[in-house]
Amino acid sequence: MADKIAIYPGSFDPLTNGHIDIIERALDIFDKVIIAVLHNPSKKALFTMEERVKMIKQSFNCNNGVTVDSFGGLLVDYAKMKKAVAIIRGMRAISDFESEFQMALMNRKLNKEVQSVFLMTGLRWIFTSSSIIKEAVQFGGDISDMVPEPVKIKLMEKYPKIKE
Ligand code: PNS
Repeated sequence: MADKIAIYPGSFDPLTNGHIDIIERALDIFDKVIIAVLHNPSKKALFTMEERVKMIKQSFNCNNGVTVDSFGGLLVDYAKMKKAVAIIRGMRAISDFESEFQMALMNRKLNKEVQSVFLMTGLRWIFTSSSIIKEAVQFGGDISDMVPEPVKIKLMEKYPKIKE
């Protein structure tokens, strides 16, 4: 039987432990998970595409089921090209639901063969997001248990602590 492949798409600016929690849950269901970083020139990101992909690769050193890639254009076209059967999205709180629902239905309209699969994040990561981590770290907040080590190092490079 062919491997069941899932795409886990996102901006990953940067990868957080919340993302890792979702990837690990997805690996319980699917044979392979492709972490697909969106190339979106109109959205201003803190990290370049190369930096984001590199940090993810460093964080998943020896995990055979995980590959990292980047994509542009329609997600469903990318999923089809990769022969993926599912798109994984993480859900934290009910506030995630509306935009995820809209995106899933649009994706289904564009390609009925790819299913959206929503995985609930671990309770520990319920408030974690790339944006809130960036906000905290730029003012010297300690986020070391919220991101993998390679991400922490790059964040510190971008935002050296403001010394009084
Ligand atoms: O991490 P994010 O920013 O919430 O991820 C959003 C992402 C990458 C999943 C979404 O923007 C996306 O799929 N973009 C690709 C363009 C696309 O297919 N749009 C149509 C579906 S709404």
